[in-house]
Amino acid sequence: MSVEVYLNKGIKEIITEFPEVEQILDEYDVGCGACGEGLCLLKEIVEIHNLDDDLEAELMTRISRVIYPEKEVMFPKRKRRSQGRKEIKYSPPMKKMVDEHVLIKRWLALIPKVIENLDLETEGGLENIYKGIDFIRNYADKYHHAKEEEETFKYFDENLDIIKVIRNDHVKVRAHVKAMLQAIKEKDKETLAEHLRAYSEILPEHIKKEDEILYPWMDRSLSTEQIGHLYSKFNEIDEEYGEAPKIHRDFIEKLESEYY
Ligand SMILES: [Fe+2]
Ligand SMILES: [Fe+2]
Repeated sequence: MSVEVYLNKGIKEIITEFPEVEQILDEYDVGCGACGEGLCLLKEIVEIHNLDDDLEAELMTRISRVIYPEKEVMFPKRKRRSQGRKEIKYSPPMKKMVDEHVLIKRWLALIPKVIENLDLETEGGLENIYKGIDFIRNYADKYHHAKEEEETFKYFDENLDIIKVIRNDHVKVRAHVKAMLQAIKEKDKETLAEHLRAYSEILPEHIKKEDEILYPWMDRSLSTEQIGHLYSKFNEIDEEYGEAPKIHRDFIEKLESEYY
């Protein structure tokens, strides 16, 4: 089969045919195995991960040796628009979203304590859990995901696997939130804890995918004009939400001082 055919194949399919490829990708910190979806095409993976020139050449040579052990085959070099991946420089709108992730990560770090202290009987206990769910729904989902799904993604083809993977995570999160609310209604602590835990397991990987892969790739793909437009849209969103993000931040700080 030709190089072109492999470049246009999903990575999961390639790994099934050549299991060694997964380990090679891991060595270059391209954790496709951990991604869980594996829908990206080989050529997209190279494009999206934006490795240094030398590393990319080395990686592709190693993969080609696995696929074509009999002969020396070179994958074509892709055209690139930016330098190495290590120092990620975000555009202002992407930086805004990366900064919002920081508060979401602080909430994620609190979840084991939230689970430990779950209390569906007292007013104070219920208040904490409702505020936590409010943070997930209104800060992490509505306020932050509005910037992702409703503004940024519309510049890209919805059928791209990377967009589908990210959207899929958002859908999973919403399902867990629904289940959490149901569990509170039924005073079912166990189920509530289960969904909080599942949520806290999806998010770190999700944020890493966005910070390290999705946003830098989007930055490389968008024009300066598009980035400017996005930034003014984000400012409008911030204005629209007014004090709300600050109230969420205060809640996280209150929990931190309570639990640490
Ligand atoms: Fe997201
Ligand atoms: Fe995000």
